[in-house]
Amino acid sequence: MCATTNTELAIHDTSHITYESLLEGNEKFIEEALNVDPQFFEKLANGQKPPVLWIGCADSRVPADRITNTNPGEIFVHRNIANVVVHTDLNLLSVLDYAVNVLKVKHVIVVGHYGCGGVEAAMGNKQVGLIDNWLRTIKDVYHKYSNELSAIPDHKERFNKMVEYNVIEGVENLCKTTIVQGAWKNNQDLSIHGWVYALNTGKINDLKVSRTSSADMDPIYKFD
Ligand code: CO
Repeated sequence: MCATTNTELAIHDTSHITYESLLEGNEKFIEEALNVDPQFFEKLANGQKPPVLWIGCADSRVPADRITNTNPGEIFVHRNIANVVVHTDLNLLSVLDYAVNVLKVKHVIVVGHYGCGGVEAAMGNKQVGLIDNWLRTIKDVYHKYSNELSAIPDHKERFNKMVEYNVIEGVENLCKTTIVQGAWKNNQDLSIHGWVYALNTGKINDLKVSRTSSADMDPIYKFD
C-alpha cells in the first residue's frame, strides 16, 4: 500500500531547532542540572568512571543516555553509521582501548536499531557514494546469512532480521579484537552484549548474545 499523508506528517517536527535554540537549551540544561545537584558539574569535571561502552548508530533517534535513562558520566559512547564494528577502524579501536584498558568498563554493548537506514542501504543495490565503502562491511554480513535471509519473504521482516545479524556480527567482531581478547586473557571482568532498539516503541530488544569470555570461540582468535 502507498504511504499516507498522515504517516509523513507524523515525523518528529524539528523546525523549532535552530543554532540559537541549542545555546538556549544549554542554559536550561545547566539550570535544571544545578537544581538537582549544585555540585553536578564540579563532580563531573573531576573525572569519569563510566561502567559501560556503547557502540551505536549515528542516527539522531537513538541517543544512548536518553533511551537508557542515564546521565552524563555514565556511558562512554562511540557511534557510526549502522553501528559497524570493523577490527581495522582506528577510531573504534581507540575508543575501545581507552574504555577497556583505562576506564575499565565492565560492559560493551553493540546497539543497532530497527529501521536503520545504513543497513537498508546495504541491503540494496543503489550506488550512493563514499558511504558505499562503509556499507560494504554490512553487505558481507548479508552474504554470510544469505540463506537465512532469503528464506524470509517479507521485506520488513528480512530487514529487521538483518539489523539483528549486523549487531550479532558486531559482537563477534568485538570479541575477536586484540583489546577484548587481551582483557579476557588477563581475566578482566568484561562482558560484550548485543541489543536492538525499536524506534516505534522505544523498547530495547536484548538479543541475548552476550559473551563474558572467549570460552566457546574459535581458538585462532585467542591469546596464550
Ligand atoms: Co542506523
